[in-house]
Amino acid sequence: MDLSRREFTRGARLVAALSYSRILGANDRVRVGYIGLGNRGDQVHDAFLEHGDQQTVAVCDLREEYMDLAVKKSRATPAKYKDYRRLLEQKDVDAVVIATPDHWHALMFIDACRAGKDVYVEKPLSLTVVEGRKISRRPSTLGGSRRWALTADRQPISRRPPSSSVPAASAV
Ligand SMILES: NC(=O)c1ccc[n+]([C@@H]2O[C@H](COP(=O)([O-])OP(=O)(O)OC[C@H]3O[C@@H](n4cnc5c(N)ncnc54)[C@H](O)[C@@H]3O)[C@@H](O)[C@H]2O)c1
Repeated sequence: MDLSRREFTRGARLVAALSYSRILGANDRVRVGYIGLGNRGDQVHDAFLEHGDQQTVAVCDLREEYMDLAVKKSRATPAKYKDYRRLLEQKDVDAVVIATPDHWHALMFIDACRAGKDVYVEKPLSLTVVEGRKISRRPSTLGGSRRWALTADRQPISRRPPSSSVPAASAV
């Protein structure tokens, strides 16, 4: 290829400028707290780490070594908690991933919405139908604004089924 030094430098400057324009500012990143970092929580953390628009700011598990592994992978300095309620108190957590055993999902989901966090929760969404119905009204009624809540199959929880097929959540 016949390329002058001047042309090469101009091209390199353009590439550098484009790269800088793609560097995300702190306001463009979703600051995520992970609750439950066992088998699935670790997988989801790995998958989310591939996206530059998320940052791990907090981790929570009963097992210290699982948290340490997550901190190591995170390329950041997330806070560690054994009690998920302390993680929910952390102001700079925008969203949480819940990957604890099934019986914790409903309670953690509702507490996270109350704390104003967006939620990604592993399947199954809940252990009982009653819990599921209670959850289905949380995203839009808590936190003062509409929260995003996704299940592991990426279905928004706030999308309500036809009212004729399922009793209203308030009837539970
Ligand atoms: N493993 C999978 O491939 C897979 C796939 C889809 C969905 N899921 C779902 O993901 C969830 C987790 O499954 P898993 O296989 O990762 O289980 P796991 O036992 O490997 O991990 C659960 C983690 O949650 C932690 N934990 C338990 N109670 C806690 C609490 N109160 N506070 C904080 N941490 C707590 C445990 O210490 C453990 O590290 C389950 O609901 C499961 O159905 C798992």
